[in-house]
Amino acid sequence: MEVTLRILRYDPESTSAAPTLTLAAGEPAAGAAPSMGALAAPAAPAPAAPEAGASAGGAATAVAVQTASAPAAAIPVGGPHWVEYKLNVDPMDRVLDLLIKVKADQDGSLSFRRSCGHGICGSDAMLINGRNRLACRIRVDQLGRKISVAPLPGLPVVKDLIVDMNGFFGKYRSVKPFLINDQPEPERERRQSQADRAIYDDTTKCILCAACTSSCPSFWARPEYVGPAAIVQAHRFIFDSRDEGSDERLEILADENGVWRCRTIFNCVDACPRGINITRAILEVSSAIVGRRG
Ligand code: SF4
Ligand code: F3S
Ligand code: FES
Repeated sequence: MEVTLRILRYDPESTSAAPTLTLAAGEPAAGAAPSMGALAAPAAPAPAAPEAGASAGGAATAVAVQTASAPAAAIPVGGPHWVEYKLNVDPMDRVLDLLIKVKADQDGSLSFRRSCGHGICGSDAMLINGRNRLACRIRVDQLGRKISVAPLPGLPVVKDLIVDMNGFFGKYRSVKPFLINDQPEPERERRQSQADRAIYDDTTKCILCAACTSSCPSFWARPEYVGPAAIVQAHRFIFDSRDEGSDERLEILADENGVWRCRTIFNCVDACPRGINITRAILEVSSAIVGRRG
């Protein structure tokens, strides 16, 4: 079957400022979850050609479109723009397969991250038909003949589908995502009952793909918000019976940019490829903060 794959391309070599894709309230993008809102053009820089480009904050449909077979001279050089590729694919192909095909057969300059190819490493999260998903986990038969792919919203674009994850991982590190226990090491392992292990089982599944944090309107509005992924990682240790660093972590997350920034919008739960109940984890951490104060 033939599909049309639209990819939001951006080449930082040609412009001075790195844009960040934003999702604005308004008409839902095709295939978008209602909670996600409409795909909007990158906030900056605005593409130069008025007839083909979009002003900052404009609708995605106004972003210049170029076809792979006929590169348009009017496309603003270096500005964010959609490029359309026609591909013959199998319905069971994944979006990652399509991106690999484009890079191999049509445009070697296309840039994207991937590693494991099987939903484990978390490196290929992107905005696919208006929702954050892993490119290696979503198939053509689940999306239809028109597929759009853009970088994760809310994070600076490095090139094409690659976003700068430094801020994301900085927040991850800020919650001390490692076991803290200053007691002398036991002769064998630090033991834990199955019931105690079950308390934080859900949050051990996180693969740090950033799909949740980059789908969160609270994060878009306030990029200092630590974000759902970091809270999930903190939860994994706060509720580990062998850990002694919970007070430190709860103190960090009680900060003005911690858990109270969550407005229970649920985009994060919808985006998580691991099916983690992120909102519940956030509420459990909030309750632990309140309980500690009481
Ligand atoms: Fe990705 Fe889910 Fe972890 Fe968020 S909680 S980083 S969506 S795996
Ligand atoms: Fe954001 Fe998820 Fe809370 S989308 S507001 S972290 S419930
Ligand atoms: Fe590793 Fe998709 S390539 S999760």
